[in-house]
Order: sequence, then C-alpha cells, then structure tokens
Amino acid sequence: MSQLVSEGAMETAVHPTVTGAATPEDKQVEAGLRPRSLSEYIGQTKITNNLSIFLRAARARREALDHVLFFGPPGLGKTTLANIIATEMNAPLKSVSAPAIERGGDLAAVLTNLQEGEVLFIDEIHRLRPQIEEVLYPAMEDYQLDIMIGQGTAARSIKLELPKFTLVGATTRAGLITAPLRGRFGIIAHLDFYSQKDLEIIVHRSAEILSVEIESSGAKEIARRARGTPRIANRLLRRVRDYAEVLSDGRITQTVARRALDEMEVDRFGLDEIDRKLITAIIEKFDGGPVGVGTIAATISEERESIEEMIEPYLIQIGFLNRTPRGRVVTRAAYKHLGFPLPRVEQDALAS
Ligand code: ADE
Repeated sequence: MSQLVSEGAMETAVHPTVTGAATPEDKQVEAGLRPRSLSEYIGQTKITNNLSIFLRAARARREALDHVLFFGPPGLGKTTLANIIATEMNAPLKSVSAPAIERGGDLAAVLTNLQEGEVLFIDEIHRLRPQIEEVLYPAMEDYQLDIMIGQGTAARSIKLELPKFTLVGATTRAGLITAPLRGRFGIIAHLDFYSQKDLEIIVHRSAEILSVEIESSGAKEIARRARGTPRIANRLLRRVRDYAEVLSDGRITQTVARRALDEMEVDRFGLDEIDRKLITAIIEKFDGGPVGVGTIAATISEERESIEEMIEPYLIQIGFLNRTPRGRVVTRAAYKHLGFPLPRVEQDALAS
C-alpha cells in the first residue's frame, strides 16, 4: 500500500526541456518552490477566486469541501492546487496515481484508511479502469463503499461507511473523463496556460527562493520561452542559472538568458527540437496536413499520448497547429516561423 500512495506523476521519456511532464529533478525542486496557500498562488485567478470562496464556506460549515476536478496540460499547477486545498482545509492529503490502482481492492484500501475531512488526490484520473471507477461513484456521492464478498450464489454485497472526504481529481485529457465520473464532481476547473506577465512574476518568486539574482529582462526572456507553463519556467530558470554561474558572475541578465536558451535550442516561442520535428514532418511529408495524430506519431517516433498531452496543446494555443475532423493542419504562422515557403494552394489563393 505504501507504494501505491505516493506523489505519483506520469514518468515519460519525452524530450525533457520543454514538455510539461515532471522529471525527478522537477519534483524535488518543485516541492520547495510550490506556493503553499492561495494567497501565494500566481495566475489562474478565476479558479483561485472561486476556490477561496468555496473553501471559506466549507470551513465555516465544518464540512469537507465538495469534490474537485482539475483539467489542464501538465505543469500548470493541478498537484499544487490539490496540496493547497488540503492546507487551507487544515486536512491531511493522500496522493495516488490512477495507473497504480490496479484492483478495486487497492482503491477500497485507500478509501477505508482516509480520515474525516482528508483530501484524496487522484492524478491522471482518466486512466482509472471502469470497474474501479464504479467503486468511486457511491464513495463520492454517499461516502459509502459497496464491497462484494464471496462468490457465485454465496456472493453478497456489504456497505461500509466512509469518512467524509474530498476527492481531488486531475487529468490532462478532458475528453477522456466519463460523464458519470465528471457528473460527481461539484467543482470543475479548467487550468489555462499562464500569461507571460504571470510567468515573469513566478520566475522572480522562484529566483528569490533559490537565491538567484535575476534582472527583469532576464526573467522576461525565460517567461517568454516557457510555453505558458510554470514547471517549464522553473526548469529553464535552473538551467539558465547554470549558465550564469559557469559563464559569468551568476547574475541572470537578458544576455545570459538568451544565450543559454539559444544553446538549449529553445526558440523565442518556446519551441524545442521535438516541436520543430513535428511541424516539419507535417509540412514536408504531408503538405501541411490534414494528417492523423497516429500517423504523425509513427513518423516522428513519439508516443501518440505524449503528442496529444504535451506537445500539441501549446502549438494549438499559439496558433501553429489546428485540430480538424480530418486531422492536424499546420498554420501559416508555423510555416513562417520555421522559414518554410507557403504551400502552393495558399500562394495561389493569395495571388488571386
Ligand atoms: N510556482 C509554480 N507555479 C506557481 C504559481 N502558480 N504561483 C506561484 N509560484 C508558482
């Protein structure tokens, strides 16, 4: 059981510089950088304003907070918000990653060990198996656990009362949550990519915690290339700090930040080698699309899931890629950014 209940996040082999998936180093450093209260939290103000009301109301009623579902690409703060909810409710937090829950009994063990008011964080909740998801329904709705004992004609169902708890679910894939599960969450929040301004503030805050001297132009440069994602901003900050310490006096200036990020091949839109590979493959091999994501995955030897969860959302957000019913299409902005001539049809259309 102790293995199951841990800070579980998806490990992935996808390119480490600018994907939102947490590396072991990220996890260790994030523990120190993570805001501990809503008042320390920068960005996502719609969510934090609402949460702050719901938390105050639940505290005043001395009740557990309603179940919360967070959607959003990796690295935007879903785990951080789960931790903050527990802190603000003055309650313990238990974290599990859905793929680690293999049988109904695993989940039953977690649920029956909860304390009154405890926050149970289930990461990657879209990956729960259907039979396990069904165990959650009565637990969420009525704080009850239905257990089958015995087999065949001797099989009986018994009900166990559970303590009142708050389930916080996190998922990177809005489309993969079943309607019955989604319907059992009282609070549903969609995390957006952060603005450049908010990322700059986060970089300054993290630099202060890490005792790194940084000029505002240096923080701007890091924020600009962080793909709207605090985890990436903090990771780039640590790498730029390495350059600053080795190549100059440790102070992060715009020059040092630019040089470091250029050396790491993170361009001014925050794209790295893998993004360029994906866009280039669609342009060169499929005339800019439309092409299915499975075909793209096979062409560039990446997992389809990583493309959908970690690479595409940002490319779509900055207007470099469109999802159409017939497949992915590269936009003119992406052709321009990567220095490709516009495709023939586009040129003809512009000329006429
Ligand atoms: N570090 C990472 N994400 C943060 C956020 N949203 N606010 C403050 N610090 C952070």
